[in-house]
Amino acid sequence: MEQEGSGKGSGNHRGLWSSKFGFIMAAAGSAVGLGNIWRFPYITGKYGGAAFVLVYLVIIFVIGASVMLAEFSLGRAGRLNAVGSFRCLAEKVDPQFKRFWPLVGWVGVLAGTLILSYYAVIGGWTIAYMVKSFTGLMGEAGAGKAGDIFGAFVSDWKMVVFYQVAFMAIAIWIVYQGIGKGIEKYCKVMMPGLFLILIILIFRSVTLEGAEKGLNFYLSPDFSKITGESFLAALGQAFFSLSLGMGIAMTYGSYIPKDQNLVTSVGMVTVIDTAVALLAGLVIFPAVFAFGVEPGAGPGLTFVTLPSVFAQMPAGHVFSALFFLLLFLAAMTSAISLLEVSVSYVVDQMGLPRGLSTLYMGIAITLVGVPSSMSLGGHFPKIFGKDFLDAMDFLTNNVMLCLCALFTVLFAGWLWYKDARAEITVNGKYPFALYTPWIWVCRVIAPAAIGYIFVMGLKW
Ligand code: PHE
Repeated sequence: MEQEGSGKGSGNHRGLWSSKFGFIMAAAGSAVGLGNIWRFPYITGKYGGAAFVLVYLVIIFVIGASVMLAEFSLGRAGRLNAVGSFRCLAEKVDPQFKRFWPLVGWVGVLAGTLILSYYAVIGGWTIAYMVKSFTGLMGEAGAGKAGDIFGAFVSDWKMVVFYQVAFMAIAIWIVYQGIGKGIEKYCKVMMPGLFLILIILIFRSVTLEGAEKGLNFYLSPDFSKITGESFLAALGQAFFSLSLGMGIAMTYGSYIPKDQNLVTSVGMVTVIDTAVALLAGLVIFPAVFAFGVEPGAGPGLTFVTLPSVFAQMPAGHVFSALFFLLLFLAAMTSAISLLEVSVSYVVDQMGLPRGLSTLYMGIAITLVGVPSSMSLGGHFPKIFGKDFLDAMDFLTNNVMLCLCALFTVLFAGWLWYKDARAEITVNGKYPFALYTPWIWVCRVIAPAAIGYIFVMGLKW
């Protein structure tokens, strides 16, 4: 088995995770990102609170975790990046179409690369806002000017590019150092740090006067809000939140030692991702309702509403800085996973040394991100009526991720299922009682769900 990956960079010298804990932190770090903090709490509040959470839990554990297991096991079996693993596995199970399957990996690698280009723009904002928390943001936000500050910041494209480059430089620096000594080492510190900050902020938020109103909005179950639309929201969120369909789990899977239990790893990553998403809501809603402001989703909530909430608290600048540090950590651990996807592709397929690959890809991705940085203040032409950043977001999330995820599960479920069993159970060492249901999720349920998201998401 160990020899199966016969590409240029295969074999043990690609490096492996040095501990299961480190790998879980890295994989959970990829999953926990801006989506958990600025998207999940809001859609939960909007689509029925605790009732929505129930739907989400079923979806993420049945469909999301199954797709992740498929990706991890494909990656570990292929022992290569997403393209190389597909090439090497397809050769065995589907020789007739062996040229088609690597394309699926390609779509994933390209999606990851493009996503990082604009993810880093928003990552840069989190650094800028950490700095601003100490340099006057609180005063202005307290005077009701948080919106103006945000508007002025994103229109100042040179500043936005500056912070985007700073963010990318940190990601490059971490990935440059490799798997065990880079990604794993830093995630082992960043993820517990993220949890600690989350706990501090929850404590601050729920002890504010009037916090219960927020908790009611967030969690009171309302089954009447569970409609087709909320199912769609839960499905889309589950895929995005677990970072599926872009070769990340395949790439990270390729560094998992052969004797590790994949099923428990998938379970842990899914639990951590869901926990952070749920906990983030306990920071945001009690605070927002305690100060009587309207909750919304996305950049508006994070960079406009919350600063004005922090401005009204004693020592608000400290909580504001902590909050943006939380966002920064969440974004950084996701960004390095995105960068690793393309770096591992270049290392394996082109045979370049890891350090150089990281530099080349990092710089290329930073350059591709510059139009996204410029587009927000209108300094870059619109693409069919959308800002460049939004257009990239649409192309990657609504089109490429769906295609990559769809063909990945079909491959695992219909072509590779026999080898999958040996790979997942480590040749029978860890029994996997749910093998048959898992196969059917990969064959029918997940493809149907992904197809549904794809069709519904095609509106430009
Ligand atoms: N999973 C991350 C989040 O929830 C987002 C992400 C998507 C990260 C795709 C990497 C790749 O924010």
